[in-house]
Amino acid sequence: AAKMTSIPDVKNLPTLHSTLEEAKRVAAYRAVDENLDYANHRVIGVGSGSTVIYVAERLGQYLLDPQFSIYASQFICIPTGFQSKELILTNGLRLGSVEQYPVIDIVFDGADEVDVNLQLIKGGGGCLFQEKLVSTSASKFVVVADYRKRSPKYLGTNWVKGVPIEVVPTSYIRVLNDLKTKLKCKNAVLRQGAPAKAGPVVTDNCNFIIDAHFGEIEHPEKLHQDIKMLVGVVETGLFIDNASKAYFGNPDGSVEML
Ligand code: 5RP
Repeated sequence: AAKMTSIPDVKNLPTLHSTLEEAKRVAAYRAVDENLDYANHRVIGVGSGSTVIYVAERLGQYLLDPQFSIYASQFICIPTGFQSKELILTNGLRLGSVEQYPVIDIVFDGADEVDVNLQLIKGGGGCLFQEKLVSTSASKFVVVADYRKRSPKYLGTNWVKGVPIEVVPTSYIRVLNDLKTKLKCKNAVLRQGAPAKAGPVVTDNCNFIIDAHFGEIEHPEKLHQDIKMLVGVVETGLFIDNASKAYFGNPDGSVEML
């Protein structure tokens, strides 16, 4: 059995190999500590990416703390993809599925960019469909990110890799063409695996990802709707009116909230 220890104090954490990692960790820990109603929240969504690693780690610490373990042992964690399933399991947390638990109390997930209105670009890791399924099934969606993700105004300012769009494989040429001709997309590319010759990235749902560049996005909701209407599009990485709050960690260990 795992050794019982109390939850480490966020003000006194061991140093990591980089201040960027420390920024991600402090955002994740603070987001969990300030938003998880451990006595009442039971079904918890765990998103994808490198910041969420620290969300799962923090939830695992609740499980090992004698003060909280009675509650934390009741948590059921809902993943948003393969990586997130692994994070849940390696931190000793209980795994559930969105089919079993279609109503989720709270979800913690990362973002590629967050604008001033809490609209998001997600899908840098290719998990956007399940992330959207889980986050729109949750009563509360808390974004965890480092300082680089906060846009001064519009989406498409800091994040220059484009809007991720999940498409049915046979439709990708059609969607690439439609994005350019119908939606005035500046540039759209099929996301390739590494090494490039390995072929397209295939999502957990066996689909492809297109990264579509629109420059600064003044009307993300309209753009989301327009992309969604194209034949072959499964989901877009524009998360509109979905997030409740965002935590941005800084390299000096401080956290800003939106
Ligand atoms: C994956 C995502 C991630 O949440 C997003 O890419 C942020 O990742 P990170 O925490 O590594 O910056 O949307 O599809």
